[in-house]
Amino acid sequence: MCRPVSCVLCHVSTMNDIPPAIYGIIGKPLNHSLSPLMHNAAFKALKVNAVYKLFPLEEDELKLFFDDLREADNPIFGLNVTVPYKEKVVEYMDGLNAFASKVRAVNTVVINSQRKLFGYNTDGPGFLTDLQAAGFNPEGKRIAIMGAGGTTRSILSVLSLITERPESIRLYNRTTEKAKELLSDLGQRMDLSMVEVVPTVEDLNIELADCLINTTSIGLKPTDESLVDPDMLHQGLFVYDVIYNPSQTKLLKDAKKKGAKTANGLGMLYYQGVLALQHWAHMELDDEIKTVMRRALEKKQ
Ligand code: ATR
Repeated sequence: MCRPVSCVLCHVSTMNDIPPAIYGIIGKPLNHSLSPLMHNAAFKALKVNAVYKLFPLEEDELKLFFDDLREADNPIFGLNVTVPYKEKVVEYMDGLNAFASKVRAVNTVVINSQRKLFGYNTDGPGFLTDLQAAGFNPEGKRIAIMGAGGTTRSILSVLSLITERPESIRLYNRTTEKAKELLSDLGQRMDLSMVEVVPTVEDLNIELADCLINTTSIGLKPTDESLVDPDMLHQGLFVYDVIYNPSQTKLLKDAKKKGAKTANGLGMLYYQGVLALQHWAHMELDDEIKTVMRRALEKKQ
């Protein structure tokens, strides 16, 4: 029986009597996730017998869930992992690709025919692809980052592991100690000599920076103020806010007013999703399918 999306020959019309292969996302909370929209649209366009579901899990349910994944009759062939489990699930993997093993965070799991679990991190590459698609080359640039959670873990990793490394990265987090811990953990596996943790937003030196990235949750609520005084923003700055709902945070609105180039996190969500599906399907997606995925997300903007 061939069911996963990796079998691109499985056409829906020939598969009516066979239950679909299941893909999905684990995390907590999940009610706002746009991943089902994007992946189910892709499955439909690919004409594969597969469905993408939400698996909201409590932390104490993770072990049983992953034990079950190894059972021969489990119909789940691939997963995304989101907050707060990207680091936690590493211990359940049978293998990690090179990037995920350096980041120590997994957002994509491929389950093979022997029910072995392989972890990937497509957040870092997804971010980088979106940055490059926006025309921003990080090589030799001065970058300021606000936030030191899971998203920054992936972003810092990708920026430090590429050959087009930035000149400097200044990192601010509300809890400075957490930023330092992140640096000392990642620093064991990559060269972070260009990264400096700073105690305040002012110390980010945004006035001198080429790119400002927000990974904090400030801006998720429409009433949220920005962490950044608008006077620090300028025309030569590229402001990237990983928040995509609302599509325009106060930070992005302020940046636009100052003539800065801006992007929200929808592109990162899209590219990490494309890369995840490519891992599940063991193939490159063609532009038509990618367009379907992008449109599914944009409809929600
Ligand atoms: P993600 O995986 O999206 O990065 P996360 O790991 O929960 O999510 O990280 C959330 C980030 O938002 C953290 O940097 C957090 O700062 P702390 O480490 O000090 O908790 C930041 N954050 C959340 N609420 C914030 C607030 N009210 N002000 C400033 N930063 C905040």
